Amino acid sequence: MASLVEQLDFEENPLFEQLIEDILKDGYSILDNFFPQETILDLRTDLLHKYEEDHFKKAAIGNRINEVIKTEIRGDFILWMDEAKLNTVQSGFFNRINELSTYLNKTCFLGILKKEFHYAVYPEGKFYKRHLDTFQNDDCRRLSVVCYLNEDDWLPEHGGELVLYLQDENGKEYAKSIYPMPGRTVIFESQKIEHEVKPATRQRLSITGWLKTRS
Ligand code: OGA
Ligand code: MN
Repeated sequence: MASLVEQLDFEENPLFEQLIEDILKDGYSILDNFFPQETILDLRTDLLHKYEEDHFKKAAIGNRINEVIKTEIRGDFILWMDEAKLNTVQSGFFNRINELSTYLNKTCFLGILKKEFHYAVYPEGKFYKRHLDTFQNDDCRRLSVVCYLNEDDWLPEHGGELVLYLQDENGKEYAKSIYPMPGRTVIFESQKIEHEVKPATRQRLSITGWLKTRS
């Protein structure tokens, strides 16, 4: 008998299946080869170019209409991507994200309708205190996606780890540290997992965004 995936008339994708399995089990997934290495390099170049040209602004908390800058909570600089004006490398990134959204909608009926992404630069020593991505912000965010664009020589001693606050089977909290290695992509449930970004001893680069259910 044809598997459910075959019946739905599309090809099973082992990487996406891994991601779904991880998220159902743990609420997060870490994938080191989600994007081709070349895409990572091109995104880093694009980010640095735009950062040098001063297109970034201080990240705020609150929603996009009601923003407040609080550097004691977060100290990164961001640049939102406009899906109507993507360059070639950004299109490559969004094509992959769209492929994932379509897959999730077909296999898990997740109902992803929208997405929003920004580049982020954390200057040396900057951080983002523990938070939930939906807190005071946006209850349409379902999955948070962070892809690290750091140089290949990033080492754990440089810090900058993403810390996820999780619960074990007895409901006891524990912390899971994930280092921002180049090309690493972390996807987690926006409404459930509190997390923070630790300071690093060097500039920390990423592209971060959300898959959303409504606008
Ligand atoms: C965020 C965030 C995590 C990271 O931007 O909301 O939590 O590892 N980023 O950069
Ligand atoms: Mn966050």
